Amino acid sequence: MLQITYISTATGPVDTAVILATSRRNNARDGVTGLLYANGKRFLQVLEGDPVDVERTLARITADPRHRAMVVLSCRDVSAREFGEWAMAERTTGEGGDAFVARVRALVAAAAPAVRATFDGFVQLPRAA
Ligand SMILES: Cc1cc2nc3c(=O)[nH]c(=O)nc-3n(C[C@H](O)[C@H](O)[C@H](O)COP(=O)(O)O)c2cc1C
Repeated sequence: MLQITYISTATGPVDTAVILATSRRNNARDGVTGLLYANGKRFLQVLEGDPVDVERTLARITADPRHRAMVVLSCRDVSAREFGEWAMAERTTGEGGDAFVARVRALVAAAAPAVRATFDGFVQLPRAA
């Protein structure tokens, strides 16, 4: 099973509910699960599933003009899903979002310094929500 974690920046005001609705529909179909964190300005997402399905999903997401500057923080094989069975769960600042960010911080601890620095820049941004 493949697990990919990335961050990105919204290109404008984003309706997260619309993104979540599309994600849940497609991901349920494709056996992809994960978690999307949005703070109004940035996204942090984990995708888990069979490699071919995760790669295909990520290719669609990468091409989406609603965000830019995508940086993959972590890409690893996992023996089981680590972020639950949700077709796409949602987190924002507070209400579980901070715990999620802390979890990703642990995931990124082993990454290259440049990736860690990018992630730190992400989480230190003032909260836009
Ligand atoms: C931050 C972000 C996260 C997204 N996450 C997913 C996702 O998990 N699954 C998905 O199918 N589409 C996701 N999308 C939407 C895709 O970019 C794309 O619009 C969608 O997959 C197209 O699906 P459709 O052809 O069924 O309309 C995301 C978009 C953004 C901006």
